[in-house]
Amino acid sequence: MEEKKQKKINGSFPLQLHHKLAERKKNKNLRTLPDYFPKYDFSSNDYLGFAKVKSITEKAHDLLKEESNINSATSSRLIRGNYSLLEKTERELAAFYQSETALIFNSGYLANLGLLSSILTKDAIVFYDELAHASIRDGLQLGYGRSYKFQHNQVADLAKKIKLQQSKHPNTAIYVITEAIFSMDGDGPNLNEILQVCKNTNCYLIVDEAHSNPIFKLKDLLSEHALNDVFARIVTFGKGIGVHGAAILGSEKLKAYLVNFSRSFIYTTAAAPHMAASIIAAHRHFEADKNQLSFLKENISQFRSVMHQLNLQHYFIESYSQIQSCVIKGNEKVSQAAAFLQEKEFDVRAIKSPTVPQGKERLRFCIHSFNNPSEIEAVLKNLAVYLTDY
Ligand SMILES: Cc1ncc(COP(=O)(O)O)c(C=O)c1O
Repeated sequence: MEEKKQKKINGSFPLQLHHKLAERKKNKNLRTLPDYFPKYDFSSNDYLGFAKVKSITEKAHDLLKEESNINSATSSRLIRGNYSLLEKTERELAAFYQSETALIFNSGYLANLGLLSSILTKDAIVFYDELAHASIRDGLQLGYGRSYKFQHNQVADLAKKIKLQQSKHPNTAIYVITEAIFSMDGDGPNLNEILQVCKNTNCYLIVDEAHSNPIFKLKDLLSEHALNDVFARIVTFGKGIGVHGAAILGSEKLKAYLVNFSRSFIYTTAAAPHMAASIIAAHRHFEADKNQLSFLKENISQFRSVMHQLNLQHYFIESYSQIQSCVIKGNEKVSQAAAFLQEKEFDVRAIKSPTVPQGKERLRFCIHSFNNPSEIEAVLKNLAVYLTDY
């Protein structure tokens, strides 16, 4: 019987892959696609609620009618997929983000893949924060050069490691990549100090703004006029902007380089017109109405103040942003905590290892402009009950 079962697995699905899935199940970290979403959203990245704004959909539709009447870019950008609405979108993005140029990618994942794999030539080195997003790590794996991590947000560690590599390889191009707001911890580095280290050592700084955009402008996180000293920026539009896609911001030369060498830009069908139109409409909406941004900032303060009132702060990773993470060690324990809150209609997700390091499993609370103060109070009161009673 056992033998028969084994054969069946072998015949329809490789045994090695079966074992990998079984291991996940055993470790209580098997991923499955959710089909139920509790009422109160504390998990999506739609921080400003733009994903549901009807006027963005309508304006995008109007733009499509005015500027483009096709459903697809029809080919990659370098073949026949370069159309005027896409170029117009890039010009608007460059102005919005105060950058010389913008180059659109189909997602932030692909932008990081295409940027990092293409700059990490044989004679280059990239230093990345140890908590860098998977898209950054995957991009580095595709490069030919070497990459080294530095301790999370530790500028002194970064400086020491740069010095060591420069003494061994004096002519190597060195890049440093970090995130303005980290997706899992919600904290951010001292970007001015990192930029200063890069300037002192002739390294090139790259900042991934996936979770800070458009809530915390990079210009405001840096000292005056420092924006132009950043080599490359990654902005994504599927989170705070509420649509889809991404762009790499930087100089004309960087854009030309990516158009020539970035494989996730070159070997794929260009962004569809409806994506370009949505990107423009969402950015114009942000410019015209800053109410949601104020609501979000008030909600972040409210969340942090209730957290302190309930004396929960020592469970949380210190963060001033809309991402607030409560560490509950162990995949099983953190899943139980998430289930407890979800039963009460609070959509709070457990982030388990290996997505985060073992022992750092957490409930990640994503705060939005549309969460109302009573929801915020209620979710934290329920969390307090869970932490004391279970
Ligand atoms: C830091 C960071 N960079 C890039 C991405 C990928 O962006 P996208 O969802 O547009 O592929 C993410 C997504 O979670 C992220 O957290």
